[in-house]
Amino acid sequence: MSDSPAKHQIVSFRRMQDGTRADYLLLEQLELEYTRQLPAKILAAVSKLDQSFDGYPVTRLGHSLQTATRAMRDGADEELIAAALIHDVGDELAPFAHQEIAAAILRPYVREEVTWIVAHHALFQNYYYVHHLGGDRHGRDRYKDHRWYGACRDFCANWDQNSFDPDYPNEPMSTFAPIIERIFLRPPHDPRYITGG
Ligand SMILES: [Fe+2]
Ligand SMILES: [Fe+2]
Repeated sequence: MSDSPAKHQIVSFRRMQDGTRADYLLLEQLELEYTRQLPAKILAAVSKLDQSFDGYPVTRLGHSLQTATRAMRDGADEELIAAALIHDVGDELAPFAHQEIAAAILRPYVREEVTWIVAHHALFQNYYYVHHLGGDRHGRDRYKDHRWYGACRDFCANWDQNSFDPDYPNEPMSTFAPIIERIFLRPPHDPRYITGG
């Protein structure tokens, strides 16, 4: 956290109902300063995926870097590259709903299409394997008329499902750090970024 004078102040209340406008302005300012660290926290969380899920040819970190590298080399825009890098970051704490974690991280900062893709990528990934386990690989078809169906299908087909190759020459995390910084230092919920798509 930056060492601002506000950092050393503490609000007057012990119950939120007793807080004053000055208290909440102080907390708002401190929260804003704290969220300047968000890009570094996101990169650290992705880096921790080097210790998750046995049995794959690459770690989740390797998979994440590979997915983002493929997106970048295909000419994807920075929001999609960031989405590709962090799409599985929820695997550690939400192994049965991981797509919701990454979507929630992205939602205040990127266009709705990108959040939608990440929120639905687990369902669309089912197409590649879930029939082997008795599931319905065509679950994604319920969205076949959705305007972002094709974008999510392509995200999975071209970048996600094929990124388990230990011989793929992916970029290092440092390649993506400036992209993560540019996106997650934007003002949150800014209509210039989150609407449309
Ligand atoms: Fe995933
Ligand atoms: Fe993935």
